[in-house]
Amino acid sequence: MSSARTGLLIRDLRPGDFQDLIDAYYSYYRELADNTAFGLALYRTKPSYGSELEWFSHLYRDLEAGNCVAKVAVVHGRIVGMCNVTRQRPGSEADHIGELGIAVRSGYRNRGIGSKLMASAISACRGRFETIQLSVFAVNYAAIRLYKSVGFVRWGTLPRAVRRGRRYFDQDLMFLDLRG
Ligand SMILES: CC(C)(COP(=O)(O)OP(=O)(O)OC[C@H]1O[C@@H](n2cnc3c(N)ncnc32)[C@H](O)[C@@H]1OP(=O)(O)O)[C@@H](O)C(=O)NCCC(=O)NCCS
Repeated sequence: MSSARTGLLIRDLRPGDFQDLIDAYYSYYRELADNTAFGLALYRTKPSYGSELEWFSHLYRDLEAGNCVAKVAVVHGRIVGMCNVTRQRPGSEADHIGELGIAVRSGYRNRGIGSKLMASAISACRGRFETIQLSVFAVNYAAIRLYKSVGFVRWGTLPRAVRRGRRYFDQDLMFLDLRG
């Protein structure tokens, strides 16, 4: 899906996307330094380039095996966001469930990119997963509104799910039923 007016393209992840993705991921660490309530649960220490490379190769392997859906948002040739849904323990009795993650780079939010990424990822998940689940900081109102707008339902809250320095954050647990 692409729009000539906004320069936005939503497409499947490709092997050559690694550098843009790691740039985006490291930018979230810079955001966290300025915003202690930033809505992504990150590793306490920024992962090395090598471990990011390993993460990317696992992601791509999952994609090739049909265990993952990964959509990226590209603006003027640069990746500014990603939404991925990864199968829970492939081969297990829980493998009809996918876990969703999404992030759009600062400076590109609130212009519909997150919604378009979600719509594209959810549509690719139909017939592949029966349920999509996610967890979201209970104070991440932007993300929760986005999830509710595409049909996600909150089924619980895990108190103190994230420990960040001396602060704790509850996480809302949500699911989307893709059957029917
Ligand atoms: C959550 C996130 C992915 C949304 O992406 P986005 O591109 O900004 O989303 P959109 O512009 O498509 O907005 C979609 C909907 O989200 C909601 N939303 C977005 N920004 C909002 C804000 N600042 N306040 C309230 N609602 C907001 C609205 O419902 C909006 O729909 P509307 O425009 O019809 O009202 C983005 O804010 C982000 O990457 N945040 C940092 C990482 C993160 O928190 N990821 C989620 C982890 S669970």
